[in-house]
Amino acid sequence: MFQPLRFQENKLHIIDQTRLPFEEKWLHIKNAREMYQAIKKLQIRGAPALGIAGIFGLWLGVKDEINCSANTFLKKVQETGDFLKTARPTAVNLFWAIDRGISVLKRGKSMNSRELAHLLLQEATHLWREDIETCRRIGEHGQTLIEEESNILTHCNAGALATGAYGTALSVIYFAQQKGKRVHVYVDETRPLLQGARLTTWELQRNNIPCTLICDNMAAYTVKQKNIGCIITGADRIALNGDTANKIGTYNLALIARHHDIPFYIAAPLSTFDSSTPNGKGIVIEERPAEEVRNFHNTPSAPPDIPVFNPAFDVTPAELITAYITEKGIHSPHTIKGLLA
Ligand code: MRU
Repeated sequence: MFQPLRFQENKLHIIDQTRLPFEEKWLHIKNAREMYQAIKKLQIRGAPALGIAGIFGLWLGVKDEINCSANTFLKKVQETGDFLKTARPTAVNLFWAIDRGISVLKRGKSMNSRELAHLLLQEATHLWREDIETCRRIGEHGQTLIEEESNILTHCNAGALATGAYGTALSVIYFAQQKGKRVHVYVDETRPLLQGARLTTWELQRNNIPCTLICDNMAAYTVKQKNIGCIITGADRIALNGDTANKIGTYNLALIARHHDIPFYIAAPLSTFDSSTPNGKGIVIEERPAEEVRNFHNTPSAPPDIPVFNPAFDVTPAELITAYITEKGIHSPHTIKGLLA
C-alpha cells in the first residue's frame, strides 16, 4: 500500500499532492515554516495526514533547540505548535496531533532539551504508525457493509494520500476488493481543487480498482442511473452530536443519499471526533481564495472581478448520516457519543 510520507535524514519527505497525477515529486521538509507552507498550499492534505504533518512539523521546529534549558525548549515547542495550528482551521487532527506532541513532553519532567526532543520524535513516529493501523482497521470494519457486487460513490480524496496509508473511505474499498468483492467506484471530481479527479482516480487506478470520474453536479443522476449502493466519504471534524465537516459538496451527497434511500457513510478515525465541539455550528469552516473558483485548474473561467464564495468544507447534519466507520467498529450517531466519553 502506497505511503505518502517518508522520514529520512531528519526530514519528512512528502509527495507533493498539487502535482499529481502528472508528476510524482517529493518535497523534503526540514523545518516548521516549510511544513506550514506545505499544509497551507495543500501539498499535504487530508485530516489524518495533517495530524502526522503537524506533529512532525512540531519536532522539525524544535529539533535544533537542544542547547537551551528544558523550560526554554518547552516554550519553543508551544510557540511552534501555535504557529502550525494557524495553517488550516477545519481538520481537528492537526490540532489533536500537535496537542498530543505537547502533552507527551509533560512526561519528561527531569529531562533536558535533547531528551525532550527525542521524546517528541518518538511520539511523532508512534502517532504515524498508529494512524496506519487505524486506517487498516477502518477498512476491515467498513468492508462488512459492502455488498458482493457494488457501485460506490465517493467525494474528494479520503485515501492513502490523505493518511499514513490505506485511507479511510478508500480503505473500506481496498479491503472490500481484497475480500473478493466486485466494486466499482464513481469519483466526484471535487471542484474547485479537483482532489477527486486528480488524486482519488490516481490512487484507485494504481490499486486496480475499477472507477469512473464524474463532475460533482452529476452525482444525483449517477446515483439514479448507475445503481449506486452507498456513498462513503471521509471527515475533517465530527462534532459531539455527530454533525460532520468534510469537503464542500459532502452535504449535497448526504441529501442525495437520503432522497434515494441509500446509506451515507462517514469513514473516520476517532482522532477526527472533536468532543469539545457540541455540534456542527461550532466547527470553523476554512474559506479559500476566490481565484480557486474564478479559475479552472489555473485557467481563468469567470470574469476576473466576480464576487466568489469559496468554503472548503460543509457540515452534514448527523441525521443524514447512516453510520460512522471507525477503527473501533461501526457506529450510529446515537452510539458514537458513548465511544467518545
Ligand atoms: O481540503 P482537503 O483536500 O484537505 O480536504 C480533505 C477532505 O475533505 C477529506 O475528505 C478529509 O480530510 C478526510 S481524509 C481521510
